[in-house]
Amino acid sequence: MQAKILVADDERHIADGLQMLLADDGYEVDTATDGTAAWEMIQEGGYGVVLADLRMPGVDGLELFARMREAAIPAEVIFITGEASVASAVEAMREGAYDYLEKPLNIARLKALIPKAVEAHQVKQANRSLEERLANLSRFGDLIGQSDEMRRIYATIEAAAPSTASIFIIGESGTGKELVAQAIHDKSPRAKGPFIAINCAAFPREILENELFGHEKGAFTGALNEKPGCFELAHGGTLFLDEVAEMEPDIQVKLLRALEQRSFRRLGGKKEIQVDIRVVSATNKKINKAIDSGELREDLYHRLAVIPLHLPPLRERRGDVRILAESFLRRYAEENGKPIRGFSAEAIEFLHSYRWPGNVRELKNTVERATILTSGEQVTPDDLRFQELIRTEDREVRIRVGTSLEQAERTLTLKTFSFVEGDHQKAASLLGIDEETLRSRLSRFLASDPAPAT
Ligand SMILES: Nc1ncnc2c1ncn2[C@@H]1O[C@H](COP(=O)(O)OP(=O)(O)OP(=O)(O)O)[C@@H](O)[C@H]1O
Ligand SMILES: [Mg+2]
Repeated sequence: MQAKILVADDERHIADGLQMLLADDGYEVDTATDGTAAWEMIQEGGYGVVLADLRMPGVDGLELFARMREAAIPAEVIFITGEASVASAVEAMREGAYDYLEKPLNIARLKALIPKAVEAHQVKQANRSLEERLANLSRFGDLIGQSDEMRRIYATIEAAAPSTASIFIIGESGTGKELVAQAIHDKSPRAKGPFIAINCAAFPREILENELFGHEKGAFTGALNEKPGCFELAHGGTLFLDEVAEMEPDIQVKLLRALEQRSFRRLGGKKEIQVDIRVVSATNKKINKAIDSGELREDLYHRLAVIPLHLPPLRERRGDVRILAESFLRRYAEENGKPIRGFSAEAIEFLHSYRWPGNVRELKNTVERATILTSGEQVTPDDLRFQELIRTEDREVRIRVGTSLEQAERTLTLKTFSFVEGDHQKAASLLGIDEETLRSRLSRFLASDPAPAT
């Protein structure tokens, strides 16, 4: 389904020019040469995207946008603006306008922007009706949660799943990004096809390139056989690019090209290989920072993030803590053959008040350990609370002589991590290690037995 577009510009030649350009791309386009006419047409409905000149006599672009918002008209608005009024366009974006185009118009940018706006509109529309239907869900695929935030995510997944639009999942470590990626695949028409996940941070440059694109026999010393990469393996299915902000710049360029053309060459290969894939990517980085610092190419980000999906940390959706904890408890009690009935009232209180810097993963590990440790029928706060994980103002760690280095490292790492309230970046910089190392140590330490009190 192609959304209808309205172009409102008082300069007739601009309106007509845009109409022609967009009609060439297969869109149905109407024009209006003043705001009043545009507003009448918009009210009749049916537009997915409105391109509006910011400055028009009578009802100007901003006024048009304000009226649309007031009437809850769902079309995406893109402003056309002269240099002098860019600031008001940016301001309007804060209030929900989709984007703006500066005069003189950059056609390439226009052509890139329109399909994204149309897609955003369609996803939002689908979301609206879904949100109502999903309003009572407490799980979705393997995802558990009944907070408004999670329900919005279920709705987005369901709305986006049928298309091939790329989805970019942004969320702290342990929030469930991989589970969401899998759910997108499972709900899509590609569910019977492969789901191929690759962790982009896990490989050095050359190997990553090889993993992604594969190689021909003899492409390099040691390439005894040809090998398909993830792009080929994911054909007909979904490619999940995990930790995608961690890629070297030149691989980002190659990836961008492969995504734009839906084709690529194996290392040492001459043949262009076409693939039909849906790309889902994820990062736990603050995305604006990664782009500003040049770590992640902006054009690649836009290509990957036709639909950005923010997975909030557990502390911002506390309504999910209990249902998650109870479901993990049921699972681990059964697995371990323990006759546990549930959490004590105090334990529930602790679960709610704790900050969960490690998000759902930490909650899951905590419940698993509590299930193993507890001797009663109910899980108590003592079963849940591990000395080192309690948020602390205490800036000191005391380590007795006779403590092993491993143990000392564990204690210091966990204390530092909880001191900075679970901020991986801060903890890593205080400890003088990189974030990856910190993450792998944390998961190792959190999986092993708690240290004796220090
Ligand atoms: N909503 C949820 N319902 C049930 N289980 C969940 C949910 N979210 C996360 N989990 C579980 O928590 C653990 C961490 O989830 P996942 O690996 O998807 O997180 P992540 O965001 O990819 O983390 P990282 O950034 O560290 O890779 C997994 O065991 C997953 O099954
Ligand atoms: Mg992950």
